Amino acid sequence: MIELTDIAYVRTGVADLDKAVSFATTMVGLELAPPTEADVAVAHLRADGRHHCLALVQGRSGVISSGFTVADEDALAAAEAELEQAGYAVTRGDAAAARSRRVRSFIGFDDPFGNCLELVCQQETITRPVAFTRHAGITEFGHLCLDAPDVHEAYRFWSSHFNARVSDWIGDAACLLRIDPVHHKLAVFRGDGPGLCHMNFQVATIDDVFRNWHFLVDRGIEIEMGPGRHPQSTAVFLYFLGPEGFTYEYSHGVRRIEDEASWRPRTFDPDEVGSIDMWLGPVRRVSSQPQLMDTGE
Ligand SMILES: [Fe+2]
Repeated sequence: MIELTDIAYVRTGVADLDKAVSFATTMVGLELAPPTEADVAVAHLRADGRHHCLALVQGRSGVISSGFTVADEDALAAAEAELEQAGYAVTRGDAAAARSRRVRSFIGFDDPFGNCLELVCQQETITRPVAFTRHAGITEFGHLCLDAPDVHEAYRFWSSHFNARVSDWIGDAACLLRIDPVHHKLAVFRGDGPGLCHMNFQVATIDDVFRNWHFLVDRGIEIEMGPGRHPQSTAVFLYFLGPEGFTYEYSHGVRRIEDEASWRPRTFDPDEVGSIDMWLGPVRRVSSQPQLMDTGE
């Protein structure tokens, strides 16, 4: 059993780096981390104590990888052995790739559906407060959501190899998973192929969600869903579309499951009124960014 200690980052390829960085900073509000000489054609975006949680890499448009932390080098080596034992092709990141990710070391492999996952150890922390480009109220990188054609198979993968527990099901449409008390730091949505459904940022108050909504609408940004409230996590959400098909989400008020022993995952019918948005707003499947194959990273 591989113990994931947290989510680490999303790494995504963008054809237009300047445009993607501009959106991530001026619209989403993230800080562009100061680049070093080694950071050629990659932009690191900060939202919390992590050096970055979003890396935009100049190149083909699409998701490169999703990163998760494990405790240390020994845990990483044990994970590598366990995954290889289970038949997964695991690669070790080289020094330059680890540096670009601001981790000491990492391994990469594909889940059964083709999502490229990376396990990392010693992701860098920065103590300096985040210099947000605008005040969106962001408190942290909240969760990431992957696509898979079969969410039940995805659950089997995550629960058999990792410490991921299902918090709630949305029928055959989604599986919401936790790796700590937060209701979900990982979700898998049903999709045609591998990809990233969205990347979430928590904001401090419900007012931030609504202020951000007006801010984005005023600037012509496509709101994909919300503001609304998910009955599963009780979070107030807003999904909006960034460049190159990348969906961002702000949310506030995610449920914490402090009593592991007594929690029973529930199942919601996605076609039932209020099952996605208990405020009964219009519901749609937000767009996903496809997983890139053979990124050469
Ligand atoms: Fe979400």
